[in-house]
Amino acid sequence: MQQGINPWASSQTVDVEKLFSDFGIEPIGTATSGLPEVPSFMRRGIVVGHRDYGRIADAIRTGSPFNVMTGFMPSGHPHLGHLMVMKEVVWHVQQGGRGYIGVADREAHAVRGMSWTQCKEYGREYLACLYALGYEGTTYYQSENTRLKDLAFEAATKINFSELQAIYGFTQDTALAHAMSVATQVADILFPQLDCGPSPTVVPVGIDQDPHIRLTRDVAYKLRMFLVERRDGCISVRSKNAPEAAIEAVHRAFPGSKKYEGHVDIPGASCEAVEERVRAIEIEQGGFGFVLPSATYHTFMPGLQGGKMSSSVPESFISFWETEKDLKKKVMASLTGGRMTLEEQKKLGGEPEKCSVYLLNLFHMAPDDGELAEICRKCRAGEMMCGTCKKETFERTKEYLKDLREKMDETAHLVDV
Ligand code: TRP
Ligand code: SF4
Repeated sequence: MQQGINPWASSQTVDVEKLFSDFGIEPIGTATSGLPEVPSFMRRGIVVGHRDYGRIADAIRTGSPFNVMTGFMPSGHPHLGHLMVMKEVVWHVQQGGRGYIGVADREAHAVRGMSWTQCKEYGREYLACLYALGYEGTTYYQSENTRLKDLAFEAATKINFSELQAIYGFTQDTALAHAMSVATQVADILFPQLDCGPSPTVVPVGIDQDPHIRLTRDVAYKLRMFLVERRDGCISVRSKNAPEAAIEAVHRAFPGSKKYEGHVDIPGASCEAVEERVRAIEIEQGGFGFVLPSATYHTFMPGLQGGKMSSSVPESFISFWETEKDLKKKVMASLTGGRMTLEEQKKLGGEPEKCSVYLLNLFHMAPDDGELAEICRKCRAGEMMCGTCKKETFERTKEYLKDLREKMDETAHLVDV
């Protein structure tokens, strides 16, 4: 398994530096300079890395079309651990992206054994949250989307068992449906381009999902008919698995081009212009012309008891429907970066970077940068004690959830369309 990233493990720590160096994920800072407005999740180091985000930043800046797509596995109630991805999707929609949300019921059924009706119910909860946050766009359940399932089958023609073994550690005992859910996720990520034609797509995900992103980029590449390359003095359109008719169509599309065995050379053309035309020809010829998808990677907000926020550990997560009483209990009992005694805390200050309460603020509950900086300062200086800090965080979270639930009521009618 590549670097031991298992997207289905319930808890694990990921070595971010190693991901950068071993897998070519780039630090997010290399892409944000192209953005007209850098969102707080990028400024605050929550989104740490990306693949090919430059083309998304370009699209945002120039107002050209792009897609934002992600999926949620309906294997439990949504909770604050899912909020980051939801906000990222909504932000990209607000920046002009076409939204796509897949409810990964195939994955939940195959991997977690969830019943289809249970998937439906949890799926509706995820969608309710998304709409309340301002989501606009397409939503679907994997199991009900025929075009998606056909695309998954097509993707599966480019995936073999040794890859699944190398990437995910699949064995002889892995259920075929599990492998099919992988092909379905690949199809999810490419679906916006099936729907709207070739276009950049950003997939905001937790860093554990990178194996899926790499596999999808690989499949998208393999499904291309042509490779467009700059060769000395000309642009060369090379067939990867194009039918003769498609090669002929490329030749005809570019007057002055020369056709050879398996490639067409075009003198004095611009690479971008050729790329675009060739993608269109691929589609006319029954291909896909996929643009390799981009991704952003965020780190995980820890659970209130440390570790991962997970619906299987009730005291670790905050549900969107948490009662006031439970919310208070959970926040007040959470693991902090405070010292053993009040004296020590006053003298040494707390350690916000280790504190689940601080991170809850960093991720979601202190949207104003000045306010967050002040929490951090007062904590480090020993001016604020954990009891007060937790109480204030509880109040903010309570208000946040109350507002969000009100919005859910207002947008409830969108969930079932
Ligand atoms: N596998 C993802 C998870 O476990 C869910 C998912 C399904 C997904 N399809 C996707 C994520 C497409 C991103 C893009 O949460
Ligand atoms: Fe965490 Fe607040 Fe305590 Fe600092 S004061 S350690 S931020 S709970």
